[in-house]
Amino acid sequence: DWQASSIVDEAVAAVKKKVGSKKVLCALSGGVDSMVAAAIVQKAIGDQLTCVYVDHGLQRKGESDQVEKDFVEITGAKLVVKDVSDRFLAKLAGVIDPEAKRKAIGNEFIRVFEDTAREIADADGIDFLVQGTLYPDVVESGGGEGAANIKSHHNVGGLPEDMQFQLIEPLRTLFKDEVRAAGMQLGLPEKLVYRHPFPGPGLGIRIIGEVTRERLDILREADFIAREELTKAGLDRSIWQFPVVLLADVRSVGVQGDGRTYGHPIVLRPVTSEDAMTADWGRLPYEVLEKMSTRITNEVREVNRVVVDITSKPPATIEWE
Ligand code: XMP
Repeated sequence: DWQASSIVDEAVAAVKKKVGSKKVLCALSGGVDSMVAAAIVQKAIGDQLTCVYVDHGLQRKGESDQVEKDFVEITGAKLVVKDVSDRFLAKLAGVIDPEAKRKAIGNEFIRVFEDTAREIADADGIDFLVQGTLYPDVVESGGGEGAANIKSHHNVGGLPEDMQFQLIEPLRTLFKDEVRAAGMQLGLPEKLVYRHPFPGPGLGIRIIGEVTRERLDILREADFIAREELTKAGLDRSIWQFPVVLLADVRSVGVQGDGRTYGHPIVLRPVTSEDAMTADWGRLPYEVLEKMSTRITNEVREVNRVVVDITSKPPATIEWE
């Protein structure tokens, strides 16, 4: 549509003007904002942009592929992938407290991004860093230029003093719906553009208990099935967010075939919301819940029970941690 195309054209022109022939770096989180911002910058300056994707192993099934394959194919962007799931799992070993998990993941993320940024900056020289800041973020922070933080991912502090980049914020005047319209205009897949919000610490805060590779695999499968059934039922846009949580330290008795099982419960947490500040539990149709429950317990061996969270926010939060 013409409105979306003029949003994109204006943003592209502004980036071209600001960057000239200099070099730009962008951290992709897998989220909508960073991908649309990167796609705009790529359109403006092509190979002067390098994107970095830190694969911490806490993504949902298929999400790294969306960045590593789909995004690159559609935009032609130059992408450096850092596969560092071992490092993240090592930092998470024995960590149970939710805030300690966030800190461990956030710190490690910034360390990996810093190292990578330094390598690229040493090799190529980098002048600018892309931020997916939206208009509501600008208003919230009082309208000043923010420090160079990786907002879309972890809200962790700035890069070291000797690595000060100028910021490019191509989405700075836009609301979320305009960002989505721009994303569609840029040819990004609808599945990606209308993706539900997903926390920076990823599945790390949806495993109640210690995060291990085995537990991540269990949760990834259950989460994939639940999301697939939500999409099939056509409910993606009426549900704001749909955390699927593994109660990894809880076991309950079940029966399957002629054997007793002792497995883990999965919690389904569909919510409706306007802005995530408050939320209501999402009334999914019984048939949809039934499908999710049957498939998860049939297809994920370690899970023998599925429960639905029917708490609003407040008093509960959207996430379990
Ligand atoms: P809660 O659980 O506080 O979540 O109701 C509100 C919204 O924030 C997201 N969330 C996070 N996002 N890093 C993020 O980038 C985090 O540590 C984090 N914790 C919660 C949550 O998914 C929901 O959209």
